[in-house]
Amino acid sequence: MHQAVQNSTSQATSTTQRYAKCIEVSKRIRWDIDRDVIRGRQFDFGKKFLPDGLSKVTELTFLQPDEMLFLSQIQGRTYANIFGLVERYIGAKTLEISKDYWFSDQVALEALVRCTDEELKHQEMFRRLEQMAAAGMPPGYSFKPQPNDVASAVLSKSTWAVLGLTLDIELFTQAHYRSSIEPDSNLSELWRDVFLFHWKEESQHAIMDEIEWKREHERLNEMQRDQAVTDLIELVGAVDGIVQLQSNADADYFAACAGRKFSSAEEIAIQDVLLKAYRWQYIVSGVQEPRFVEVLKALVTPPQMERIGKALAPILAHVGQ
Ligand SMILES: [Fe+2]
Ligand SMILES: [Fe+2]
Repeated sequence: MHQAVQNSTSQATSTTQRYAKCIEVSKRIRWDIDRDVIRGRQFDFGKKFLPDGLSKVTELTFLQPDEMLFLSQIQGRTYANIFGLVERYIGAKTLEISKDYWFSDQVALEALVRCTDEELKHQEMFRRLEQMAAAGMPPGYSFKPQPNDVASAVLSKSTWAVLGLTLDIELFTQAHYRSSIEPDSNLSELWRDVFLFHWKEESQHAIMDEIEWKREHERLNEMQRDQAVTDLIELVGAVDGIVQLQSNADADYFAACAGRKFSSAEEIAIQDVLLKAYRWQYIVSGVQEPRFVEVLKALVTPPQMERIGKALAPILAHVGQ
């Protein structure tokens, strides 16, 4: 008994220390949208918005270089919209979780409040980027999912599942940053900075998210955990639904603006590569991060892992992983 109390006290201390470290780093790397990221710049429409590793546009070998460029710019605009969307629910969830610390660990509370503040800032940054992208692109683009509808659908699922999806998202910003630093003189400098600065703050979020995911796990019984795995599978399915919808919309927009007629085989290929790119960007690049796999494995049973693996299999196969 005495040992158990000691263990839980030292666990709480180490959690507080990890939160304290997040606050310290968050203060040190804190950036401002105008002063550090945008710096009075506009987008250069002669450059790609997303690196090839994310956009997959080079797989469409029948496209001209300027068409690949435009397709990567459409994806950049969608990137800004998707982040504006997911950060809406992440901010709300973080605020909700912070309630557990209102009258206890004030360090954890501060870390979670900072995280929420950063997500609000990120939403604003992505809204600005969307407007800047819109200013230089032909009319007709439309972003289909509604942030508040998606946020309420996500938040209706169990906290365990929401935190699992959130860790996937926060870790894939790291994978995206890695793609953005690959040598490529034709990638927009402004977009490179977006990947860099976003990732800097997301690194702390991923640590906090992991702490909270594990804490939530401890609170659940076996039945609740099994239901939570089902919820996580459904959430990934919902994200897949969103990227299917948007990849179709973006393929139509691209075809409408391209100024030439594509064969039906080419149209199908464009749609397919867009879906593949979005599945890579918004699902697979996160779930394949070693940290994600490690945390998930520690939380689920082998049969649950198998269920998750089965649900992901068609998406992984499409992306070629
Ligand atoms: Fe963010
Ligand atoms: Fe985040």
